[in-house]
Amino acid sequence: MSQILRRERLVPNIHLLEVQAPEIAKKCQPGQFVIVMPDERGERIPLTIADWDKKKGSIVSVFMVVGTSTHKLSLLKAGDEVPVFVGPLGKASEIKKYGTVLCGGGCFGIGAIFPIARALKEAGNRVISLIDVKANYLLYWENKLREVSDKYFISARDSTYNCKDYIHKKLRAIIKEEKKIDRVVAIGCTYLMYACSEATKSQKIKTVVSLNPIMVDGTGMCGACRVTIDGKAKFACVDGPDFDGHKVDWEELFSRRKSYFEDEIQSLCRWERDNFP
Ligand SMILES: Cc1cc2nc3c(=O)[nH]c(=O)nc-3n(C[C@H](O)[C@H](O)[C@H](O)COP(=O)(O)OP(=O)(O)OC[C@H]3O[C@@H](n4cnc5c(N)ncnc54)[C@H](O)[C@@H]3O)c2cc1C
Ligand code: FES
Repeated sequence: MSQILRRERLVPNIHLLEVQAPEIAKKCQPGQFVIVMPDERGERIPLTIADWDKKKGSIVSVFMVVGTSTHKLSLLKAGDEVPVFVGPLGKASEIKKYGTVLCGGGCFGIGAIFPIARALKEAGNRVISLIDVKANYLLYWENKLREVSDKYFISARDSTYNCKDYIHKKLRAIIKEEKKIDRVVAIGCTYLMYACSEATKSQKIKTVVSLNPIMVDGTGMCGACRVTIDGKAKFACVDGPDFDGHKVDWEELFSRRKSYFEDEIQSLCRWERDNFP
């Protein structure tokens, strides 16, 4: 059992989860993830490691409430325990001195991109952060990201910010303004990562995305997370989750993520009915 140290609502549908996990905190690196089971009868779901504290022995993840398991997680309190919290899983993100790197994040990816942006900055890169939110009340961790960024932009769909745009349009505008962008890293929903990859293709700017197919064991045993990269089958949990966005078979990924759509809806309806009659 692993103990919850903190569960906090960051914005209406996004929560922070801090768990006591000293062994994971000792060795985790940016880009890796954990697998958590919210209760004994729940499923195993992957969450990216958004921060960690080696001294305290804790791991922080940021999750978006989308279905049964994330709903269950959103009800946990400090002192509660989860039966499964394993990691660090997956390959760490490649961190080198590339020059100027743009880090794009949306929804839970705002948290997930943070340790990567921090590591890229520490490696001597000029870091540009581009954060995508639907509206200003969904923005979180702005100060944390500003601290590790040389430039910070927001793309949003409301008029609070001076950039009423979708992330890929803002990304294209930044590429045009900046003399040279050497690398783009994007994390968020599948569509955000696909759109960012499309936006950088014609400029041939290497674009790394953290893929989020359905996962079960997270150790390369079950095959659930199969993705096609440059025509070859890969398992996102052990070969990724980072891949070159220009080589991903996006159509297949979109389709495989919908495999259990009906069951997921039924599961959430049943759970809501049983818990909030
Ligand atoms: C490597 C990796 C890292 C991730 N990091 C984060 C993160 O930091 N924060 C976050 O909010 N989300 C993250 N996700 C997505 C997260 O795992 C899913 O949103 C979660 O599993 C949904 O579970 P649910 O029961 O709440 O929703 P459901 O209703 O079961 O599913 C909603 C949608 O989530 C996807 N999904 C469902 N089950 C899984 C599963 N076992 N594995 C992966 N996707 C699934 C499906 O596309 C589905 O349609 C990550 C996924 C991967 C693969
Ligand atoms: S989650 Fe089972 S092989 Fe990747």
